[in-house]
Amino acid sequence: MMMNGFDMIPEMMKQLPKGVFLTVGKGEEANPMTIGWALSGIIWGKPVMMVAVRYSRHTYGLMDKTETFTVSVPQFGELQKELNFCGTKSGRDFDKFAETDLTPQPAKSVEQMVVKEAKYHYECKVIYRQSMDPANLDEGIKEKFYESKHDYHVFFIGEIVNEYEG
Ligand SMILES: Cc1cc2nc3c(=O)[nH]c(=O)nc-3n(C[C@H](O)[C@H](O)[C@H](O)COP(=O)(O)O)c2cc1C
Repeated sequence: MMMNGFDMIPEMMKQLPKGVFLTVGKGEEANPMTIGWALSGIIWGKPVMMVAVRYSRHTYGLMDKTETFTVSVPQFGELQKELNFCGTKSGRDFDKFAETDLTPQPAKSVEQMVVKEAKYHYECKVIYRQSMDPANLDEGIKEKFYESKHDYHVFFIGEIVNEYEG
């Protein structure tokens, strides 16, 4: 079912603390990673989704060589086992689609996969990417999230080019 504008955003924000799937990688490389942080809104006159990926993630390497990604949102409270697997295991060590009951389904408007078993899908085209500058970061947040590892996030702003329930 096609949706309009930001219809699915409240569902996504409700599910976000439990995790949603960020999927990147063409063909066999397709790798779903659980994310708990994301923003959605309008910038440059476009509806956008921003995701934050640490350098250490396998997903970061995949993001580095692509212009597109997808975000798949489970029905609230579902796919918890799969979210846990994709949020603790790396695509470097596991083919996460093969190891879980999740199925890669070709996206409609970008050359990526979505997670078939999820309820809502966003297909995004990266229009801006920005490494964090620690000099601009709140000290409390730096201590809490980065002090020990210095493994900063890179912010990717994707224009939402397609969104649907399916
Ligand atoms: C609920 C939850 C939310 C997470 N959110 C993020 C996130 O927003 N950004 C991030 O870089 N990692 C996040 N992670 C950690 C990654 O999902 C985890 O390190 C994963 O194993 C990386 O997979 P990859 O190496 O295949 O990319 C989250 C993990 C969980 C369990």
